[in-house]
Amino acid sequence: MIYFCYAIIKPTTVITESLKVADKSEIHFGRVTELLPRLLPECRVVVITDANIDRRYHALLQRYEYIMIGTGETVKTLHTVDTIYRRFIEMGIDRSCFVLGIGGGIVTDVAGFVASTYMRGLRFGFVSTTLLGQVDASVGGKNGVNIDGYKNMVGTFTQPQFVICDVEMLRTLPEREFRAGMAEIVKAGIIADRELFETVEHSTLESLREDERLLDSIVMAAIKVKADIVDRDERESGERRKLNLGHTFAHAIEKCSSEMNHGEAVAVGTVMISHMAVKLGLLQAEKADRIERAMERLGFRTSAPVETKKLLKAIAKDKKSVADSIYLVLPIDIGHCEVRKMHIDEIAACTE
Ligand code: GLY
Repeated sequence: MIYFCYAIIKPTTVITESLKVADKSEIHFGRVTELLPRLLPECRVVVITDANIDRRYHALLQRYEYIMIGTGETVKTLHTVDTIYRRFIEMGIDRSCFVLGIGGGIVTDVAGFVASTYMRGLRFGFVSTTLLGQVDASVGGKNGVNIDGYKNMVGTFTQPQFVICDVEMLRTLPEREFRAGMAEIVKAGIIADRELFETVEHSTLESLREDERLLDSIVMAAIKVKADIVDRDERESGERRKLNLGHTFAHAIEKCSSEMNHGEAVAVGTVMISHMAVKLGLLQAEKADRIERAMERLGFRTSAPVETKKLLKAIAKDKKSVADSIYLVLPIDIGHCEVRKMHIDEIAACTE
């Protein structure tokens, strides 16, 4: 069930709202400086973060003990996790402590995995500092690391106690990183919120960056799509698979090339799967074209940087592939999609 609480209206007119995911995790929208002191439990807090966050928010970090990891997808490994476990042991971190991940999706994925496995699990929460992190990675309780470039091969489903989403923190994001998060917002719209898709479709990247109210509203709408689905299927035995729209091709692109970040690969993957849905007679061509145009308008490239044959090979090795079949998420309309189990040869036939 999802609860919306209109908690505080500050004189600055910043509205703090929250919603609950899977009855365990609270997503809070508002200013981090106001929310964090209220949400942190009274115990020893250890922060996991990275150098970019230290540069931007040193004043916030220095209130806590903190551990920094490297930056970029290549640090999302068991080696990084092992380094943190060892540091925790040196520091005497035990189950009475609280782990706070402050950063983008890589930091929160690693911090969540460390917290859910160290000493069989510590309480944890996140301050999500990127658009992609706020609308996808930090919400829903999936955490984990990559193995040999295959994404999220090891991980758990453990909900953070809270996630703070402060859109003010998105102001300092480089344009490329901001754009990457927009791919997940478009994805959320295609899955279950036509109005969200149309808002983005008719906006420019600049207007979405500059208009805080507009940004707030699309971030909340995208998180609601996700929270709603996670609420019904926390452990991905069915409907949650929809959240992987565009991700089958995206993960393959990321495995085969380092040219694109996750959001850029999701944009291509979403366009590819939309055209595939047209070939399968599930989606009107005009709607696939709208999806492609919306991605282009945001400044995304819409074709893969590697040949399809290579992508199909990587898809066959995807962790979701069983006996050469995979659950594919196919848009059937803007705001609706369906999950279909397809053999890799069938997928290959539709991409020719
Ligand atoms: N990013 C997809 C999910 O959380 O299920």
